[in-house]
Amino acid sequence: MTSPEAESRAHVREQALGIAAGWSPADAPPSWALTAELFRAIAAEPELLAIGARVPADRLPPLLLSAAIRSLVARRRPEPLAGYFPTPGSGQPALDRGFRPALTAFAREHADELAALCAEHRYQMNEVARSADVLAVLGLLDPGRPIALVDLGTGAGLGLHLDRYRYVFGERAVGDPDAAVTIAPELRGRPAPMPATMPVIADRLGVDAEPLDLGDERVRNWLAACIPPETGAVDRFAAASEVARAHPAPMRRGDAVEDLLELCGGMDPDALLVLVDTYVHVFLTDEQRAAFRRRLPELGREVAWISVDPLTPLGPEGSTSVQDLPVPPRALQASRAGVTGVVGHLTVGRDGRTSGEVVGLAHPGGAWLEWF
Ligand SMILES: C[S@@+](CC[C@H](N)C(=O)[O-])C[C@H]1O[C@@H](n2cnc3c(N)ncnc32)[C@H](O)[C@@H]1O
Repeated sequence: MTSPEAESRAHVREQALGIAAGWSPADAPPSWALTAELFRAIAAEPELLAIGARVPADRLPPLLLSAAIRSLVARRRPEPLAGYFPTPGSGQPALDRGFRPALTAFAREHADELAALCAEHRYQMNEVARSADVLAVLGLLDPGRPIALVDLGTGAGLGLHLDRYRYVFGERAVGDPDAAVTIAPELRGRPAPMPATMPVIADRLGVDAEPLDLGDERVRNWLAACIPPETGAVDRFAAASEVARAHPAPMRRGDAVEDLLELCGGMDPDALLVLVDTYVHVFLTDEQRAAFRRRLPELGREVAWISVDPLTPLGPEGSTSVQDLPVPPRALQASRAGVTGVVGHLTVGRDGRTSGEVVGLAHPGGAWLEWF
């Protein structure tokens, strides 16, 4: 094995273990065990590492490979492997010792197809449960003021419909009791804030470098393959996709940094401009993040920027908030243990002054929300 290959494998292994630990730490609900086992297998099994190591590091090899596996399994339905993965409404199938040998045999047999899927696609995970993290921060804002929501890196636009979901935070709930999607994170730390009534979204816009059309079945199938194989996540994605398809919302192709001023220029001037980014800024370069922050005062209006992103650089050494806010020791500790969303809130006043803080931590798949 040449040294660059060894380096790539080590990188894939480290990323995969960080993802397993972030999505499925020791105290995670049992339904996350398959997700952890899938990424541990990607970190350990030579058949899988060999495929992952050929994917350029910036294309998130373990995540991309996990999606390629799920996509091919959904298409071919190999037994017994297919039976381990949840489908919408199936509940979480039992995990046993047969999973790993079935997975490695499948990877051996279909190595070329998996590599081709990795080459053809990008990892595009849309997790609607992150709307609960955003809603909690909205609970800190002026409750009477309508908002103009710009979801940056919106993907398929699931985050654009946050007012169409129901949220349950312990004893408190907001949103239509008959909503198709209910998001009920376990609460940790101080109780997360929740608006008393659903914020009024006066204007909404989704922005993505590559917006995704949920009307296209192939796109839907690939996005479904990018969802972690946890029954709640699988059901949520299926239901949220239907909500988004039933309520077409404005989406624009654009760069969250370069096109920020032009994109926000048309938003309702009377509403509070709320920029949301969930797992987007973490993938930008340091220069892009700095340029984004510099542009905020140039918007010339009050802005609230809600971010749910791991610390940068992505991985256990992450130490910097994408909003450049002071990082509490607890956030550093959690990030060292595995991929964790850091919830930040930064406001820019009319005078261009910024203030903000890191307010909490969130499970990447919405299983829990820890408030500081
Ligand atoms: C990991 S996904 C997160 C999607 C969604 N926000 C969520 O949390 O479910 C990151 C998204 O950001 C988009 N993206 C990455 N860089 C971008 C940029 N510079 N401008 C706009 N979108 C970008 C990607 O195309 C992708 O859809």
